[in-house]
Amino acid sequence: MNRRSLLQGLSLSVLSATLGAGSGYGQAEEVQAAKEQSSSLAGRFRIGVIGPGSRGRELIRQMLRVPGVEVAAVADVYEPRFLQVNELVGKTVPSYKDYRSMLERRDIDAVVIASPPFFHARQVIDSLQSGRPVYGEKTMGFSAEDNYKVVETVAKSGQIYQVGHQLRYAGWFQESVRRIHEGEIGEPTHVFAYWFRRDNWRRSVPDPSLEHLMNWRLYRESSGGLLEELGSHQIDIANWIFGEQPRTVVGASSIVLYHDGRTVGDNVQAILGYSKGRRLVFTSLTDNAFMGNQLWVYGTKGSMQLTVEDATFYGPIHPTTTAAYHSDVVQRGLKTGATYNYAADDEMPYRGPGRRIDARNQEDPTLTACRSFVHCVRTHTQPVADVRVGFGSAMACTVGKEAVLQGEMKKVPEWRAFAV
Ligand SMILES: NC(=O)c1ccc[n+]([C@@H]2O[C@H](COP(=O)([O-])OP(=O)(O)OC[C@H]3O[C@@H](n4cnc5c(N)ncnc54)[C@H](O)[C@@H]3O)[C@@H](O)[C@H]2O)c1
Repeated sequence: MNRRSLLQGLSLSVLSATLGAGSGYGQAEEVQAAKEQSSSLAGRFRIGVIGPGSRGRELIRQMLRVPGVEVAAVADVYEPRFLQVNELVGKTVPSYKDYRSMLERRDIDAVVIASPPFFHARQVIDSLQSGRPVYGEKTMGFSAEDNYKVVETVAKSGQIYQVGHQLRYAGWFQESVRRIHEGEIGEPTHVFAYWFRRDNWRRSVPDPSLEHLMNWRLYRESSGGLLEELGSHQIDIANWIFGEQPRTVVGASSIVLYHDGRTVGDNVQAILGYSKGRRLVFTSLTDNAFMGNQLWVYGTKGSMQLTVEDATFYGPIHPTTTAAYHSDVVQRGLKTGATYNYAADDEMPYRGPGRRIDARNQEDPTLTACRSFVHCVRTHTQPVADVRVGFGSAMACTVGKEAVLQGEMKKVPEWRAFAV
């Protein structure tokens, strides 16, 4: 047992008695380390936040709902963020323009990273190497090299890394995927994922010099576009359902409406290939919100619809028509003459009614993810959304953003474990 785990295994009173008795841990530095450790055992959990922009402040809001969490410091290259954080937290939080200076503080138990994806890998690696566990927003890295380096650093540092794929913590997603894995819709063969919105995705900028800092999502050098920003969550869900990361990706994107200087598409379509011919079909529009954010899982015996609010099961398949229609198939009042086979009673489309999937946990998944992260750090257990989860979606996006720009099929580099 090393010193850290020994200290973690001791209650506060035993710990102070042990230290007081000059047990061999009696050096000033050791006492300080033990005090810091014991304070987190007693409940304090001090986070340092890098990039408290829109998502970063939402993470602060949710983290502060977890007992014991305090914001010890923040780092951002854009100074007006500091006031926004102070207003949110209700006190003056020590702030840094360079996150590396923040990492020099000794009173930080964990680092939360919500800067744009281009910076993630460097900041995650530096934070892990400073001896802190990390809650890092998706995507884990921006390039293949980034993704492998993060995996290697997590292994070598022995620190906990949790990626911001909070849908893994949504009760209704967990229940749905459990039921899919138990065979409720037969063999899941396809996932069709939609993320439609009506919004140009552009932020108003107080000064033109801030265009790239604020509208980083619109430019290739800092963003993987809709596939990376929105699709990464749905790729992660498909990875979870299929139990693996995709092997190939092909796609296309274009600019239909917003010819405003952006260099990523305002719509994207991508097909990601898994083993046994299974596929995720992802499509995102920004000029029509009709489909919203939803994901359909199609299996050999039924279908499941997952949204950010709920989940619905369709099946087992009951045909909506009967043999009475026989050769003239009636759909919505039209004779189609389609050649359905009535000997097989599951050939006709089943459109409902669906059955709502009930889950006990209806909590905001970001709160559950924050709560879970703090618990994992305190108990030294691995998070659900661990580095492998982060790698699976990040690598698909890393390759996928090139595939959609070039219109070519790309192979997704495989997971590689690193020896500690
Ligand atoms: N999990 C989710 O559901 C979810 C939702 C939204 C955004 N995100 C992710 O969160 C991240 C941030 O998105 P956002 O919408 O909050 O962006 P944002 O632009 O609102 O915030 C990013 C912040 O990082 C700061 N920043 C930029 N470069 C920095 C650097 N080098 N060092 C420190 N700070 C820096 C910016 O000044 C800004 O305050 C992205 O990776 C995005 O994909 C995740």
